[in-house]
Amino acid sequence: MSIATKIQGAIENASWIRRMFEEGAALTARFGAENVYDFTLGNPAVEPPEAFRRELRKLAEQPIPGMHRYMNNAGYDFTRQAVAEFLSEQTGLAITSGHIVMICGAGAGLNVVFKTILNPGEEVIILAPFFVEYKFYVDNHGGTTKEVWTDRETFQPDIKAIEAAIGPNTRALLINSPNNPTGVVYTAETLTALGTMLERKQKELKRTIYVISDEPYARLAFDGNKVPPVFQSIRNSIVVTSHSKDLALPGERIGYLAANPAMDDCALFMEGAVFCNRVLGFVNAPALMQRLVAGLQRESVDVSEYQHKRDVLYYHLTGLGFKMVKPGGGFYLFPQSPLEDDVAFVRKALDHNILLVPGSGFGAPGYFRIAYCVDMGVIKRSLPAWDKLAKDVGL
Ligand SMILES: Cc1ncc(COP(=O)(O)O)c(C=O)c1O
Repeated sequence: MSIATKIQGAIENASWIRRMFEEGAALTARFGAENVYDFTLGNPAVEPPEAFRRELRKLAEQPIPGMHRYMNNAGYDFTRQAVAEFLSEQTGLAITSGHIVMICGAGAGLNVVFKTILNPGEEVIILAPFFVEYKFYVDNHGGTTKEVWTDRETFQPDIKAIEAAIGPNTRALLINSPNNPTGVVYTAETLTALGTMLERKQKELKRTIYVISDEPYARLAFDGNKVPPVFQSIRNSIVVTSHSKDLALPGERIGYLAANPAMDDCALFMEGAVFCNRVLGFVNAPALMQRLVAGLQRESVDVSEYQHKRDVLYYHLTGLGFKMVKPGGGFYLFPQSPLEDDVAFVRKALDHNILLVPGSGFGAPGYFRIAYCVDMGVIKRSLPAWDKLAKDVGL
C-alpha cells in the first residue's frame, strides 16, 4: 500500500454525507434535478449579502497596491480590529486585535487550535451528536476524542456527564452552538453552569481545560433571539468561526479565531496559534476576503429566510408524526428515525427521492439529519414525498 493505512481506512469508510451525495447524483441523473430533494449538504443555497458584492466590485475597480501580498500570519490588523470591536461590543470585554487570528474557515481554525494546545494522547471531549470532522481534526494533532452525549430531550450539554468524563488527560471540551446537526442553541444558563463546573475541575486537576466554541452558525439565530456569547460564561474559552454560513461564503475560506482575554496564558496561546497557522501551511487567511469581511461584521444573510424554511419543514413533519427538537438556529433539523435502524430509514427515503444523512454519521444512531439550506422550491416540492415516506414507514 502506498498511502498511510489510517488514511486508506478513512477513505474506505467515506462519510455518510459523501455517500449520500453520490446517491443523489445517481438519482438526479435518473429522475431530473426537479424531482430529487437533496437535504444532505450544509452548503448554503443563498447568495452573499449585496454589501459583499458592492465591496468586491470596488476593490476590483480600484485595486490597492500590495493587496495580494503576504502579511502578518495573524492577518491584517484593520480586519482583526474590526472583528475585535464587534466581539467587544457583543461581550462587554476588552478584546483587541491581539486576541484575533484570521483563519481559512472554521475547519482550519480548529486544526490551528488543536495543534497549538494538544500534547500527544491528550483528550478532547466532544458532544454527541457531533460534526464528524471533529474526530479527524483532533487525530491530526495526536489527540484523542471522548464522546459524551448531550441531554436526549433537549440536546443541551449534559454538565454532569461532561464533569464525569473529565480526567487528568483532558485538555479541551469542544462545543458547537447553534449545533450541527441538531440546530439547538445552547442557553446562557447552560454555558454559565458549564463555566462554573470547569473552574472547579481545573482547580481540582491543577490544569487548564479549554472550551473551544465552534460557532460558524452564531449569527443564524431565530425567533428574535441571539446566541449567548461563550466568553461571558467561560474564562478559558476560544471562539472559532467563519463566514461560510453567515455571509454564505464557504468556498472563500475566511473566518477567525478569538481568545478570551481572561484565559490562562493568553499571550502565549496567541503566539502559538499564529505560529501554527503558518506551519500548517495556511500561512494567512485569503487577503482579498480579509479586506472584504472587515466591513461586514454586522452583516448577515437573511436569517428570516432560514427561519421560514425551518418552520415549513418542522410543522409539516411534526404534523406527519416525526418527532424532533425545534431548532433555535442554524439550518438543520435532527428528527428521531421512525425506524430503529436510521440507515434503513434513510434508504427508505431514497425510494421517495429524499436524500438525508443518517444520525450514525454524527455519532447518533436512531436519528437523521435534514440540511434545509436549500431553495424554498425544493422544500415545497418535497412535501408530498414526505407524506408518502411517512405512510411508508407507518407514521
Ligand atoms: C459545526 C461545523 N463546524 C465547522 C464547519 C466548517 O466550516 P468552515 O470550515 O467552512 O468554516 C462546519 C461546516 O459545515 C460545521 O458544520
